[in-house]
Amino acid sequence: MKNILVTGGCGFIGSNFIRYLLSEPGFSGRVINVDRLTYAGNPENLSGIDTDTDRYIFVKADICDRQAMSDVFDTYHIDTVSHFAAESHVDRSIAEPDAFIKTNILGTFTLLELARQHQDHLSLFHHVSTDEVYGSLGKEGYFKETTAYDPSSPYSASKAASDHLVMAYSRTYGLPVTLSNCSNNYGPYHFPEKLIPLMILNALEGKPLPVYGDGGNIRDWLFVTDHCRAVWRIMQQGRRGQTYNIGGRCEMTNLSVVEIICDILDEIVPSDSGTSRRSLITFVTDRPGHDLRYAIDCTKIEKELGWLPQESFKTGIRQTIDWYLTHQKWVDRIKTGEYLKWIESHYKM
Ligand code: NAD
Ligand code: DAU
Repeated sequence: MKNILVTGGCGFIGSNFIRYLLSEPGFSGRVINVDRLTYAGNPENLSGIDTDTDRYIFVKADICDRQAMSDVFDTYHIDTVSHFAAESHVDRSIAEPDAFIKTNILGTFTLLELARQHQDHLSLFHHVSTDEVYGSLGKEGYFKETTAYDPSSPYSASKAASDHLVMAYSRTYGLPVTLSNCSNNYGPYHFPEKLIPLMILNALEGKPLPVYGDGGNIRDWLFVTDHCRAVWRIMQQGRRGQTYNIGGRCEMTNLSVVEIICDILDEIVPSDSGTSRRSLITFVTDRPGHDLRYAIDCTKIEKELGWLPQESFKTGIRQTIDWYLTHQKWVDRIKTGEYLKWIESHYKM
């Protein structure tokens, strides 16, 4: 793996993955990051990396643009693909599904076609996907790699379609692929439309904390660096043609997550009035088609590849809150839209 194409590297998980990869002693190659810089793509997520090493190259392009992506494969002699780029927010997919169908399905198809054309020197196509493809669990049970797909939202349906395409290219064309389906990530550089960063920032500003429904929906939380370690482990040692589930064995109701955030903030940055942030919790209309519970059985990756998460929710959420408290400039530039203006002026959009 000398020239790894990372798609969506300016997003939350992609940027954490690039930082992780470039600090990994086992990797001495180059990272070619292709990102369209949508609202969720922020080059500042890679500040430092972009200037400190000649092992990092950034190309602003749309993964649906076959010519632009073909140029990337040829120019940088791509031998490995790690595909993160996607529209990722469920609520946006409910309001405006078009971009999800385009990027998540057609974008993945475009990359697979190029990978097929370059198959003679392609060592791996790793596809990053989600546990949401499995739909919703009831109170019991876990998602296994063999669980039937049953997606609920346009987002998860588009990711399910992309997963099927990846496996079809493995079976039909012998493309060397691996696929991972991960649970909810949290950590640094998480865009503040998602539950955890939204709650941290709203709580700090004394704004309402909107909890959907009764807050009883359950997610399985994983610190982002643990996800990055898992993806890299699969890329190095995973059996080709296989799917691996990744999860934190950390099921929590949304209400518990929000309460924990409130309590930690009350402890380290008490509000001026001394009132508990829990008083900001506001129950709002539920998300349509809201999956009740996600829980991952990650026995396969644990047993086959020896991967285990290194962070607990207790340690990971403290690190995350500390990160937001110490990156006020990053937060301000997102909240004011400054980062989008910067992208426009640098990339002539
Ligand atoms: P994100 O929204 O933070 O980042 C997505 C990135 O993809 C952005 O930088 C965006 O600019 C880029 N992008 C979007 N459309 C593009 C296009 N057409 N061409 C090129 N780049 C494009 O998402 P994330 O949370 O970092 O998720 C990354 C991947 O991990 C996604 O595939 C997602 O489905 C998957 N995943 C996410 C989670 C999670 O909890 N966030 C969990 C499991 C799996
Ligand atoms: O499970 C993996 C998935 O996790 C990824 O595939 C997605 O890309 C990622 O966005 C995430 O999806 P969720 O829908 O689970 O994440 P979100 O942060 O949007 O919501 C987490 C839970 O919190 C969910 O049950 C909805 C709820 N929620 C969310 C928001 C934004 C609220 O109660 N209030 C909110 O304001």
